[in-house]
Amino acid sequence: MTDFISVTDLGHEGLASVIELAAAVKTDPATVAGSRNRQTVGLFFEKPSTRTRVSSEVAAVDVGMHPVVLKRDEVGLGSREAVPDVARVLDRYLDVLAFRVFDHSHLLEIAEHAQAPVINLLSDLEHPCQAVADLQTIAEHRDLPGTVLTYVGDGNNVAHSLLLAGALMGMEVRVAHPDGYAPAENVVAEAARIAGVHGGAIEVGTEVDSLVSGSDVVYTDVWASMGQEEEAAERARVFAPYRVDGRLFGLAADDALFLHCLPAHRDEEVTHEVLEHERSFVFDQAENRLHAFKAVLLHLTA
Ligand code: CP
Ligand code: NVA
Repeated sequence: MTDFISVTDLGHEGLASVIELAAAVKTDPATVAGSRNRQTVGLFFEKPSTRTRVSSEVAAVDVGMHPVVLKRDEVGLGSREAVPDVARVLDRYLDVLAFRVFDHSHLLEIAEHAQAPVINLLSDLEHPCQAVADLQTIAEHRDLPGTVLTYVGDGNNVAHSLLLAGALMGMEVRVAHPDGYAPAENVVAEAARIAGVHGGAIEVGTEVDSLVSGSDVVYTDVWASMGQEEEAAERARVFAPYRVDGRLFGLAADDALFLHCLPAHRDEEVTHEVLEHERSFVFDQAENRLHAFKAVLLHLTA
């Protein structure tokens, strides 16, 4: 049984086929409706969520699965009960275990103690389901190999999954970050290695204007992720030169796409003007979370 904890778990072939399947189920949802009848999926949330919470539950129901939504306080992962024990118990009831957690190592621990496939619904290290929807959205406009995506902002979970997913699909992924907020060195090294195999490229630096210049996709995320709220004021000061505004977006290719995983903080990491730009596809991207999650579920339960 395969897990989907890192976007790299699928490999090149797996990721390509999940993106293709996501596009197919978007076009014709009836083909997979009820195909996983009587299976069950646990959807656990240790942090807030709108898109992931709703799209995963709706996707599960659409393919015939029964979703069981669990919240942080009712489970007490690692506090009310040890992580391996929670994994071993849930594994007896559920066909798929999907978790949004603070600590990525908890996902690895759950996978070690459960037979069922484990899906990462966002951790401090990665957001792989988001990356599938992101690449599906880009593929609606252009071929992925060779596409230049520049992520502007914090080298966080979303940046990590984009680096790795883009590398797997032969894209050129650039990250423009303020000093001290680079993506993790081991993730960048792994992305560069994977990009080398699939004809892509990785570039990480602080020179935001030159990195955005000529890009096919400009992507940003919040400056302070969930759990970093107390750093928000300091980050707002440091990240201000990395705000995606009309001037910065104007340095990208004329037909560039703007993407954001949402929720967005208007006029912080992105201006209202860019978020509402005719080349902004953030709501298609949010919709694609539904189709992408359906594809992930189908792939892991095939
Ligand atoms: N993009 C995303 O994961 O949104 P939620 O936090 O609302 O699920
Ligand atoms: N980086 C953000 C993504 C939210 C979808 C966070 O972790 O809060």
